[in-house]
Amino acid sequence: MQVYGLVGNPVGHSLSPPMHEAAYEATGVDARYVTFEPELSAIEAAITGADALGIAGLNVTIPFKQDVLELVDPDPLAERIGAVNTIDFGPDGPVGYNTDAAGVTRALERHGVELDGSAAVVVGAGGAGRAAAFALADAGSSVHIANRTPAKAEELASAVPGATGGGLDTLDRIHDADILVNATSVGMEAPDETPVPASYLHADLAVLDAVYTPIETRLLREAADAGAVTVDGAWMLLLQGVEAFEVWTGLDAPVEAMNTALRSHLSDD
Ligand code: ATR
Repeated sequence: MQVYGLVGNPVGHSLSPPMHEAAYEATGVDARYVTFEPELSAIEAAITGADALGIAGLNVTIPFKQDVLELVDPDPLAERIGAVNTIDFGPDGPVGYNTDAAGVTRALERHGVELDGSAAVVVGAGGAGRAAAFALADAGSSVHIANRTPAKAEELASAVPGATGGGLDTLDRIHDADILVNATSVGMEAPDETPVPASYLHADLAVLDAVYTPIETRLLREAADAGAVTVDGAWMLLLQGVEAFEVWTGLDAPVEAMNTALRSHLSDD
């Protein structure tokens, strides 16, 4: 039996265990997926120890995604993003990936959104914003990053091919955009908040919200009212997990089984 898991602090409410265990059941992979919550100062010992114990793979979440970069051999995309959310413990030691990026592009593509040649606005320049900006640019999108702290958007834009950055006063770029990604925490557990005024939303837009609690945010509700394609945050969560499963096992992930498990646990909350 292989052991996979999630390292974060806290990890108590994670939806990854049921999602991955549904994938093992559907494919017959003999594995378990467990959560680990090391002390903030113990992440290096945790990764070294996991390798020594023969753990097959780990997902990494807040607050360790950046710290882990130094502890693994990162693939080029994870290195550019500056964060690792998936570790594969191979014979040559731990290799780090960032599957949040694929989570963004695969979620949009699954909803019929054409990325190559599109114009995208990413709101937020933290970990999720970095993954979204690099992923979309690599898929052929021209990316604008709008962030509350403009300097962070400008710094990120300078690293992302062809991207521009600015403050929230540049949200008017959404008028001419095909894709909008909310990569801020605005709207999380606060259903009356939205990062983008409804007047910017339009019918030629696809809107992906990285927030999945609640599953229907005010942004997505107002986007649907404006006639936009809407993609909820559970798709991003699902498809980063799908990509991690595929990195670890080399198999095609059973997406429907993982989606069913994820959504049934989301609705339990
Ligand atoms: P994550 O890793 O989930 O992206 P993060 O790195 O803490 O989390 O980034 C949070 C993002 O949400 C940032 O872009 C932050 O903007 P700042 O860089 O200005 O801090 C954005 N954010 C958080 N609260 C916000 C708010 N009330 N209004 C607008 N943006 C907000």
